[in-house]
Formats: sequence, C-alpha cells, structure tokens
Amino acid sequence: MVELPGDKSISHRYAILAALAEGTSEIRNYSPAADCASTLECFRRLGLEIDANRERVRIMGKGLDGLKAPRRTIDAENSGSTIRMLSGVLAGQAFTSTITGDRSLRRRPMRRVTDPLRQMGADIRAEDGDRAPLEIHGGKLHAIDYTLPLPSAQVKSAILLAGLYAEGVTTVRESVRTRDHTELALREFGASVPVAPGEIRIHPRPKLQPRQLIVPGDLSSAVFLIGAALILPESSLMLHNVGLNPTRARVLDFLISMGASINLASVQLRDGELIGDVSVRYAQLAGGSISGTQVAEMIDELPMLAALGPFTENGIEIHDAKELRVKESDRIAALAAGLRELGARVEEFPDGLRVEGRAAGKLHDAKVNPEGDHRIAMALAVAALGAEGDTVVRDAECVGVSFPQFFDVLAKLRGIAKS
Ligand code: S3P
Repeated sequence: MVELPGDKSISHRYAILAALAEGTSEIRNYSPAADCASTLECFRRLGLEIDANRERVRIMGKGLDGLKAPRRTIDAENSGSTIRMLSGVLAGQAFTSTITGDRSLRRRPMRRVTDPLRQMGADIRAEDGDRAPLEIHGGKLHAIDYTLPLPSAQVKSAILLAGLYAEGVTTVRESVRTRDHTELALREFGASVPVAPGEIRIHPRPKLQPRQLIVPGDLSSAVFLIGAALILPESSLMLHNVGLNPTRARVLDFLISMGASINLASVQLRDGELIGDVSVRYAQLAGGSISGTQVAEMIDELPMLAALGPFTENGIEIHDAKELRVKESDRIAALAAGLRELGARVEEFPDGLRVEGRAAGKLHDAKVNPEGDHRIAMALAVAALGAEGDTVVRDAECVGVSFPQFFDVLAKLRGIAKS
C-alpha cells in the first residue's frame, strides 16, 4: 500500500481557515510538503499557536481579527499558493505586513492578486509593481464583482479570503473552472459561499467554526507514481484515499483516453471533498494533445504528461500553456532541456511543447537539471526510469516542496515490482 502525502492545495486552505476560525482545529494527513510548512510558519509569525507533529496539525484559531502584526517579514519561501492566498487575508487586517519568498517566488507575477485586492481597497506595494516582497497595508475592504482575467485558483482564493473581511458580498467570476477547494473548505468552516455556474460569492464576516478534518491524498503527487506505473511494463499500483475532486481529476480521464488502465473504487465524499482508491496497471499509451481549458484543469500534471511523451505511440503535444513559464521554474524550457538530455525529441513553442513518441528512439541516461522545481525533478526522474542506464537528477531534494518521500516511495514500489 502506498502512503500518499496529504493534498498540498487542500492543506493550505484548511490551515488558513483554521487560523481564522474561533477555536482549535485539528487537521490529519496534513501535507508534509515544505510549501505547507511555510503556510504554518507564516501564521506563527502572525501570532498563532500551532502544534504540528507527524499525526496531525493543531491550530489555535483566534477568529477573523485574531492575527497580530508580525514583527518581521513573513516568508512564503517557494510557495505561490501561500503568498497569493495570504495576501487576501492580510489585505483585510488592521495592520501592515510584508510577505516575500525565495528567489523563484520573487520572480513570479503578483499583479494578478494585487490588482483585485487594491480594487477592494487594500494599499499594496510590490517590487517593480509586480513582484514580491509585497508590503500590504490592510484595512477596510469593500466587495467587488471580479472576472478573473486568467484561470487561477490562487487568485480566486485570495479574493474570496479578502471577501471574508469586505463590506458587502464579493463575487468572483471565472470562465474556466479552476480547483474549488477554497469554496468547499469555506463551507466546511461555516461560511456562506453560494455558487452558480461560473460565479462564486462570499458573504462577509462569518464566525468560522473550528473543525477536525482529514486531508485527502494528493492526486498531483500520485500522478508521478501513476506515470511510473505506465512506463514500466507489468507494473500495477493501488493508491488509497486519493483526492478525486472533479476540478483536479481530469488528468485521470486524459490518461484513460490515451489507453491507460485506471480504475476507481470506494469513491465517497469526506469533509466535502471526493476521495477514492485508484488502481493503475501498465498499458501502452497512444499519446495525445492538450490545449484550451484542459490546460488549467491539468496545470500541475503537465510536466508528468509531457515526460510520458517518449513512451507513447504518437507523442504528447501541449499548447495554450504559457502559464507554465511562470511556475516554480519556466517549466516549458526546463522540460524541453531535461527531456532532450535524456534523448527525447522535443519541439518547444512559446505556449507549450511537443515531445515525440516511441519512434523517435529510446531514452538514455543523462545528468538532468530540474531548475530547482519539484515537479520537473519528479517528471524527469520518472522518464529516467524508462531510459537505459542510470540518470542523475541534480538538486533532487527540491521534491520536498511537494512530495518529500517521493524517491523513497518510488524505490519501495520498484522493490515490490521486482520481487
Ligand atoms: C494551486 C493552483 C494552481 C496550481 C498550484 C496550486 C492552488 O495555480 O498550479 O500548484 O492550490 O490553488 P494557479 O491557480 O495560479 O493556476
């Protein structure tokens, strides 16, 4: 049985809402990802008592107005979700705070959150107008009706969290449906979040109730193990209690459409989120193309899907995915470079890439550079499993950003497969 880490996206949201609830919440299967530890550390700097061990995280929430002005800059490290979602919370506080991140995060665009938060009344200063550190002068906010100019669950969530503090009912409209964990979690904690197709509203000033919650297994991490099973002949894999929220699970449909043998069992709702068991068996993949709305639906899975390209009949082609260039690394460039090192034939486009299928030849060993990006490191490592010879992934410890046990789990699974 594979122990999947708790879902990173859901862990962030449970931590944030527990911090704003009135009383002590307990979260089980909280993600061991460095990103989720960053969120907890930020709340410690904002004056909350948090007790975390391997079993559970206990957060002593003090209500919407229970945070204290931090004495020092708050550090989101590598976590885009942390800085963007916390910006929404900090915009509603009666104090000034500064939030920053590591070198990768300080390169990533922040105007997408600062623009709507300024429209709500927050005064925010950003480096070069668009980058962290963000100096956030919180205060009285008013509701806005905001149409997302690009699909982003982080931006949607920042506005909804600021909406908790706004005067009036805030509306966010999205033309492409992004992950809805914030909406579901807000409801779990007792907020009123009416949802209609393409629009989400948040009523201000709820009294958030402390909760005991269990985080589902992280499907975006599971996908790297599923990828390994689809590359190594005769593999079979069973994953328990995986998050199957429909706004996240499109990757499974896509893999099935390419011929993957994937089955779901024991599918049920727990704490508002769909979970279930996922079994995967090795199968030859046809290949396929990804564009349009599929990109936002599978944004974190695109590195793994691209890395499957050389093992498919017709290759993998991705378009409309410019957003990949402003993730933890320029993921299009990092994938193209890494996969080429391994011997794949790759064409890079401004908004995506094409990775040729099996006919372009077998992959071979290489020394690859994931550019400090956890998902690139895992995608290249999985591709290397199907290559001839031993590959070195440089700075491989960056997988700790989302899946610290990745290499151990992979080694354990291969051991089982061999015996
Ligand atoms: C996330 C949303 C996505 C995703 C990121 C996590 C979230 O980013 O890529 O890894 O937890 O809301 P965007 O919403 O910016 O696309």
